[in-house]
Amino acid sequence: MTSATAIAHPNIALIKYWGKADETLSLPATGSLSMTLDVFPTRTTVTVDDTARDTLQLNGRAATEGELARVTKFLDLVRELAGDTRPAAVVSENTVPTGAGLASSASGFAALATAAAATYGLDLDTRDLSRLARRGSGSASRSIPGGVAIWHAGDDAASFSETVAAPPLAMVIATVDAGEKPISSREAMRRTIATSPFFPAWIPSTAASLELMVAACAAGDVTRIGELTESNALRMHAVIQGSEPPIRYLTAASTRVFDAVAGMRAHGLEAYATADAGPNVVVLTRPEDAAAVAATLTAEAGIAEPVIALPGPGAYLVDGSEALR
Ligand code: ADP
Ligand code: DP6
Ligand code: CO
Repeated sequence: MTSATAIAHPNIALIKYWGKADETLSLPATGSLSMTLDVFPTRTTVTVDDTARDTLQLNGRAATEGELARVTKFLDLVRELAGDTRPAAVVSENTVPTGAGLASSASGFAALATAAAATYGLDLDTRDLSRLARRGSGSASRSIPGGVAIWHAGDDAASFSETVAAPPLAMVIATVDAGEKPISSREAMRRTIATSPFFPAWIPSTAASLELMVAACAAGDVTRIGELTESNALRMHAVIQGSEPPIRYLTAASTRVFDAVAGMRAHGLEAYATADAGPNVVVLTRPEDAAAVAATLTAEAGIAEPVIALPGPGAYLVDGSEALR
């Protein structure tokens, strides 16, 4: 195939990945667990080309050198596996804000991995595709299988993602700032590992929370899933804030959402807040409560248009002609 198009959706972690054990192989310091969304798809087309170097069009504009370099590094790996040296033209469209802490690197590299593997003729199963996507962005590994996914820590062969059984869940996305974060997840992770005195404690804490989360998912215990989700998110932001110089992703607007969610619980509406590396907050709840949560976020925290998401599909190939969304 000389051209292939794929769609993938962002995923939001309930137990976070924060820190690598190996940068080159993109192996995580701990396992993590997420829900892939059924909203905000990324569509990426990869076409082998006769030009001298790779090109990347992102969201309708020529990519920056940094964005292109990251894609070329990933394509180099694909080309090495395929025994092919031809450059590619990559065209990608995110519907989620790019670099805002809503997992554009996850949908972006899951779609790129799926399209590039097909274009260069790699025949990979879900496990191996999730290992490949991991090399582009760690969190992208979890957007390959779909639904609620666990990404295992381990060596190159063992560090893949797979779907796990979970009770019905919904997420309500509270976008407080769609702008690009001042420091990328990758860079912030490096600084956390190098300078945060809390990082050594974060690893066993997250590993323990992941075990409890897996058990809560198997038991269908939404309350426990929610409690573990909110506590793990706040611990991640604590370890990040402990960096030197400090990194603070959560803003006053984020805090208003966390407060509104605590208020919902006090009034018997079960909801739990989480946030990735950015100011935007995602609220985990039961599907039947999602509309009430969204309405309360608007009323209590001034969120203009909360978006309700259910578990979404894994990454898949498309013929490239249909509309996004
Ligand atoms: P986010 O919170 O959105 O995941 P990150 O800091 O992890 O933010 O990653 C943002 C970076 O991911 C972008 O600067 C760009 O390099 C890369 N990226 C995002 N979307 C795409 C895409 N569709 N195709 C290729 N690279 C992408
Ligand atoms: C806070 O996967 O974006 O969203 O592997 O360097 O590309 P790289 O980082 P990335 O980090 C995601 C961090 C997080 C938590 C999570 O998604 O688990
Ligand atoms: Co990311």
